[in-house]
Amino acid sequence: MDPSQVKIPPMKDMTVDNITENVHLINSQCADPRLKYVLERLVTHLHDFARETRLSTKEWMAGLQFLTEVGQICTDVRQEFILLSDILGLSILVDSIDHPKPAGSTEGTVLGPFHTHEAEELPHGDSMSHDPNGEPLLVVCTLKDTAGNPISDVKIDIWETDSTGHYDVQYPDHEGPDGRCIMRSDAEGIFWFNAITPVPYPIPHDGPVGKLLKRLHRHPYRPSHMHFMFEKEGYDHLITALYLRNDPYETSDAVFGVKDSLVVEIGKADARIAAKYGVKEGHALLTYDFVLVSDEQTSALRDQNSRDALDKLGRKVKIVNGLPIPDLD
Ligand SMILES: [Fe+2]
Repeated sequence: MDPSQVKIPPMKDMTVDNITENVHLINSQCADPRLKYVLERLVTHLHDFARETRLSTKEWMAGLQFLTEVGQICTDVRQEFILLSDILGLSILVDSIDHPKPAGSTEGTVLGPFHTHEAEELPHGDSMSHDPNGEPLLVVCTLKDTAGNPISDVKIDIWETDSTGHYDVQYPDHEGPDGRCIMRSDAEGIFWFNAITPVPYPIPHDGPVGKLLKRLHRHPYRPSHMHFMFEKEGYDHLITALYLRNDPYETSDAVFGVKDSLVVEIGKADARIAAKYGVKEGHALLTYDFVLVSDEQTSALRDQNSRDALDKLGRKVKIVNGLPIPDLD
């Protein structure tokens, strides 16, 4: 870009008090209104953070060094940035904003860093876990819309750890997927499979995020859970998980993922269930009725929530492509 073409006042003599407005000014040339708005708010908060904490050069450099280490430890199967976002509560916050849920629908929760695209599609009733030490668990679920109609042919991605609390990808020599599968709901919106009873596990804490948790006097554990992700055109993408009641970490999840509506109790298969699903009477059983929200319902609710939230902040906005930008008209 030719600097002589930039129609902004000369920027010199930046001070604690005028730097922010000048960064806004030069960024305001951006042609994308959403990017312009996001950057304007990001720079405002970042500068206010530095002014408010009286950030020292040493601390600024320590922060940069920390982020560098977070990046350096990332690999194809280790996502330390998601972990950092998770332990700061940002992941659950963004999910709550972007995927609002009307009453009666299944709430979402954090994706976590261990979802992969390796899982194979299994027929109903198959076993997704090959861990001989896991406690066998029959899982039978239904899938409906908010009006109570079954939803068929939904792609359901499911993943859990083995009985030692490790995901398959955490083993350096892992060959192929284990503890994960893809199911499709049948005409009645039902899907069922065999798994193992989830166990609590620590998030990877041998890296910079683990060191931070330690300095904050926080434990790295997640309560026992099984992840689910639902995809079907016309429905809001649902990333969620089921958590076991009375887990020692039920109320102190390191990544803030637990919601009471997602907490379940393991039951026992009665004679009818045992006969129907080919297990012994008394076999551990997990059942859950998931409710998906349509794209239309989600975007209407998201737009309304955006308007309400920004109205409270006294900002005049318009919603474009589902996202707010300043309304300058
Ligand atoms: Fe997990």
